[in-house]
Amino acid sequence: MAENVEQMIRVDHAGEYGAARIYAGQLAVLGKGEHGDTLRHMQAQEQVHLDTFSRLITTRRVRPTALLPFWHLAGFALGAATAALGPRAAMACTVAVEETIDEHYAAQEAALGDDEVLLRDTIAKFRAEELEHRDIGLANGAEQAPGYRVLTAVIKAGCKVAIRISEKV
Ligand SMILES: [Fe+2]
Ligand SMILES: [Fe+2]
Repeated sequence: MAENVEQMIRVDHAGEYGAARIYAGQLAVLGKGEHGDTLRHMQAQEQVHLDTFSRLITTRRVRPTALLPFWHLAGFALGAATAALGPRAAMACTVAVEETIDEHYAAQEAALGDDEVLLRDTIAKFRAEELEHRDIGLANGAEQAPGYRVLTAVIKAGCKVAIRISEKV
């Protein structure tokens, strides 16, 4: 397997792991509120994404990132902290994360050839769901969150750093 494919599986597994933890953090704060079911819908899709990449890590013998324990805490903290600011901030977090993942997955789709058609199709399907999550965030007032621009810029920058690190480490 090409080294870049191995890196893709490693970073995507890390990202989906982090995403599942972000929604867990949001649900810990907002799970009983009016957005609970919406958050659970997105969390359930993230769990499928994570399960899929966990399987790929095993079947294709890819070393998972060494930073999983860190993403475990950081993902939950990001979700809980934004949710504590309010539902609109939680939705702004979703928009920022999912826009970053959309770009990330789009670049992977473009880079993968026909020899990796299954992986490419998986990424394409997940990317469509990440865009659905972004749209849910926008439909639920993300842009009305206080400090939306700064909040999303900081989260996007953090996601990009996390992606770069998780490819290698
Ligand atoms: Fe996902
Ligand atoms: Fe997502």
